[in-house]
Amino acid sequence: MTIDLRQQFDSAPELADLACSPHVNGLKGSSILAIAGEVNDLKSQGRQVHNLTIGDFDAQVFPVPGALVDGIKEQLDAGMTNYPPAVGVPELRQAVVDLYERELDLVYPVDSVIAGSGARPPIYGAFASIISEGDPVVYPVPSWNVNHYVYLNKAQGHPIVTRPEDGFMLTAAQIEPYVRTARMVVINSPQNPSGTVIEREQLTEICDLILDENKRRAGLGERPLMMLYDAVYWRLTYGAHAFVTPMNIRPEMANYTVMVDAISKWWCATGLRVGWCVAPPWVTARMKPLIGHMGAWPSKPDQIATGNLLADESKAADYLGHLKRQVRARLELLQHGIEDMERDGLPISCLDAQGAIYLSMKIDLIGRTGSDGLVLNDEEAVRSYLLHEGGIAVVPFAAFGYPEDSGWFRVSVGTTSMDDVHAVLGKLRSLLTPFKG
Ligand SMILES: Cc1ncc(COP(=O)(O)O)c(C=O)c1O
Repeated sequence: MTIDLRQQFDSAPELADLACSPHVNGLKGSSILAIAGEVNDLKSQGRQVHNLTIGDFDAQVFPVPGALVDGIKEQLDAGMTNYPPAVGVPELRQAVVDLYERELDLVYPVDSVIAGSGARPPIYGAFASIISEGDPVVYPVPSWNVNHYVYLNKAQGHPIVTRPEDGFMLTAAQIEPYVRTARMVVINSPQNPSGTVIEREQLTEICDLILDENKRRAGLGERPLMMLYDAVYWRLTYGAHAFVTPMNIRPEMANYTVMVDAISKWWCATGLRVGWCVAPPWVTARMKPLIGHMGAWPSKPDQIATGNLLADESKAADYLGHLKRQVRARLELLQHGIEDMERDGLPISCLDAQGAIYLSMKIDLIGRTGSDGLVLNDEEAVRSYLLHEGGIAVVPFAAFGYPEDSGWFRVSVGTTSMDDVHAVLGKLRSLLTPFKG
């Protein structure tokens, strides 16, 4: 006889709150999902929506390298279906070492590399292996999900509101008040959601602040101030905005930095789940059982194929160049279109496209009265106006922890074609024209 367990679950609603720990009950999912739900509702009603909300790629527009797909199939055919080593397969770890030597002029020992299923387990691993309950963690807002890792690890979060003139990046002056007590500073460059890249000078000042503080702590035998450097978009930078790491500026930062990376963004492989971090070997040694007990390693065929392709990227000749040209073309088309509107007196502006797949766009509509008497009182009303009247879906920076009603939105081009961008610009212009002047 079949046993229908659905009735069991229906009959015990009180367990929903009681079964799990209060800590886990308090964990929040992504706030972008609510917007995604709204977009899907509109689509199911047959409305055309330009979905600029997703930090992901449309595989039809931006596929993963073909050589990666072939490599994974080969590894599956070769029976690579058992457990990989908890730190990652040697092919991948060595390929990461060689990649950083080739592209970043940094030579790490292999023991510094530990693999994870995407960038998230190494991020979680960095928090879990460094942070004790109540430890202060300083991070910028807007930022992607740092608040959740802070919560998960019971850290004391110090979100710092960044400024557009600093590219929405933390500055040393903003970190300074926390430097005596903080255990970790989190930096992400190129940054989600702002699409900006930290400048060498900005990062130098932060590194010097951390190194000075750590000299002081070393004298007292205190635990050092660490940096989590989230570099998942590092190979997607445009124009003069070069990616730089703390270790290139101050090699001593290697002792205090966990740098996180993955193929998710620069090979458009968000679903394959191949990531890693590089860190001092004594940190990766402690992360090993953590990632191992969670089983949060990438699948073995994906790891080996990634390692093999990284070792010989000529098999994916010009993949990265093509991807960058495509993403940059979309971002710059948007940027220039927005700048044209701004010149024409429309209440819109943006930052330069610098990196990743995002553009920071400011729409200054709150409190303005349109020619037809329409008044949009807050950011949510502006977002809803763009979506419902123009079919343009974007995410307010408030969803990334930034103060409400700033007018700043993240525009993501990972699922858009150039035609889409043209259409979006046309629609934005007609939505904003009633509010001109
Ligand atoms: C800044 C940043 N870090 C990490 C991640 C997570 O990457 P992964 O999908 O490899 O876990 C994302 C994903 O959007 C991100 O934007």
